[in-house]
Amino acid sequence: MKSTVLVFLILGLAVYVATSVKIPTTLDDSNNGFVPAAPIPGHIYKNMYILDSDDGIVINGTLLNIYNAYRDPRLAGNLEILFVVFGRGASVYYNSNPEYQPMLTSLAESGCTFALCNNTINALHLNLKDLFPGVNPVPSGNGEIILRLADGWTSVHP
Ligand SMILES: *[C@@H]1O[C@H](CO)[C@@H](O)[C@H](O)[C@H]1NC(C)=O
Ligand SMILES: *[C@@H]1O[C@H](CO)[C@@H](O)[C@H](O)[C@H]1NC(C)=O
Repeated sequence: MKSTVLVFLILGLAVYVATSVKIPTTLDDSNNGFVPAAPIPGHIYKNMYILDSDDGIVINGTLLNIYNAYRDPRLAGNLEILFVVFGRGASVYYNSNPEYQPMLTSLAESGCTFALCNNTINALHLNLKDLFPGVNPVPSGNGEIILRLADGWTSVHP
């Protein structure tokens, strides 16, 4: 008898905890169906956007995606973004492609950091002075991604 009461107490407590603790990224709850992800309080979200294409549609899409992430109210003030560029993607940074620069400037103002693979710099004989100001060379674009993924960074490659 005593143990039955104990089981009910534990069950009751479990139901209480399950209904009172808000899980930030549950897919749905029984009352409302699908629930968009909620931020984990105090968590800083660190994400890489990855670009290796010189296709203007892909580049614009990627820049717009970063822009939209900065404007998601759930992430406001809790988002760090590194734009990791390698290979043909380098063209996004060329001063000779000025159409991308207003968006790059806007992203820089939002706090976006820009990286470029040093192998790409060397292979294409790029000079930093011909690139968008503030581009940071990294020893390799892929190494940067591997190292940061292992350190908890997420990545988006649209
Ligand atoms: C990319 O966006 C820029 C700036 O809005 C625009 O000038 C350019 O035409 C776009 N390129 C493509 C391929 O859509
Ligand atoms: C980039 O490559 C050059 C030439 O090999 C080298 O001198 C430089 O230290 C490298 N920079 C980075 C960040 O890997």
